[in-house]
Amino acid sequence: MKKSTRRALGAASFLFLAATFLVSPAFAAEVPTNVTNIFRPLSIPAQAIREVSLLVLAICAGIFLVVGGLLAYTVIRFRQRPGDDGREPPQIYGSNQLEFAWTVIPIVTVFVLFLATARTIYDVQGAIPPADALNVTVVGHQWWWEIRYPELGIVTANEMHVPVSESSKRRPTFLKLESADVAHSFWVPQLAGKTDLIPNRENRMWIEPLQPGTYVGNCAEYCGMQHARMLLRVVVHPAEDFEKWAAAQRQPPVDDPQARAGRDVFFTTSCINCHTIKGTNAMGTFGPDLTHLMSRETLGAGTVPNTAEKLRAWVRDPQTIKEGCNMPDMQLTDTELNQIVAYLLTLK
Ligand code: CUA
Repeated sequence: MKKSTRRALGAASFLFLAATFLVSPAFAAEVPTNVTNIFRPLSIPAQAIREVSLLVLAICAGIFLVVGGLLAYTVIRFRQRPGDDGREPPQIYGSNQLEFAWTVIPIVTVFVLFLATARTIYDVQGAIPPADALNVTVVGHQWWWEIRYPELGIVTANEMHVPVSESSKRRPTFLKLESADVAHSFWVPQLAGKTDLIPNRENRMWIEPLQPGTYVGNCAEYCGMQHARMLLRVVVHPAEDFEKWAAAQRQPPVDDPQARAGRDVFFTTSCINCHTIKGTNAMGTFGPDLTHLMSRETLGAGTVPNTAEKLRAWVRDPQTIKEGCNMPDMQLTDTELNQIVAYLLTLK
């Protein structure tokens, strides 16, 4: 590659990076994006974090420009030239003004950064839940999320539903984070920072989404083989839609007489050791609650869409979809498989 081309490419990629960096925070986001974008927060704590991050970035960019600029100036201005006499430049020791400046300016800078960060941490971590805040307990499992609403009597998995917060009626959601096995980390970038889920410990965080829609996130702490397929979605509803969702989730499971055969197979195999179907003797807690399985969008914590075809493939042998996951191949016959899937499909 020619030198000039290389230089042009270098400059172009620098400009591109700089533009991405500077311009992306400026877009006013109206809807959640389906990529995990930290520059488009749509929730109070995420916005607070973005503001302090931009301040830190701006200060650091300023320092970079000053230091880099002085360095570049010195290197160019005082470079070696033909005809130099080869003597060392005059050696100067001690300058009170200089020493004072390079002591005081960094101290002030660090102090400003410290105060701004401490204030944001205090605002985010010290938030007191209002009386009508929604309380949700999230339990990290290898490799899925258990989501419980203790006050509403709802248990679901991998897809958290919450109400939107409006200026006229704020509805934050406060989360209690636990783990059933190893350390995981709850991260939905447009809603809040990360918080770890640690065994034998209760961590807390909150989100306050300002726009309805589906927010995507993932486990952000390596937790074993299928860490990458431990995806998370938060569905934010307008208030009345959230009430409708909650009411539907509180319903007992559908008991469709047409699906009796599958129900019988389900209740006579070891499915019930790991899964719960509310109000039945399937009371396992090792795997996701299946009471309203078909109300969810995905299977395997976001691994595949929750369609009849994928559900069948999953029940036949989950290991082909999510290798290493803790649900074994149940060695069902084709008839049993069809019956169980027919039954599961009724669990709306
Ligand atoms: Cu759970 Cu990574």
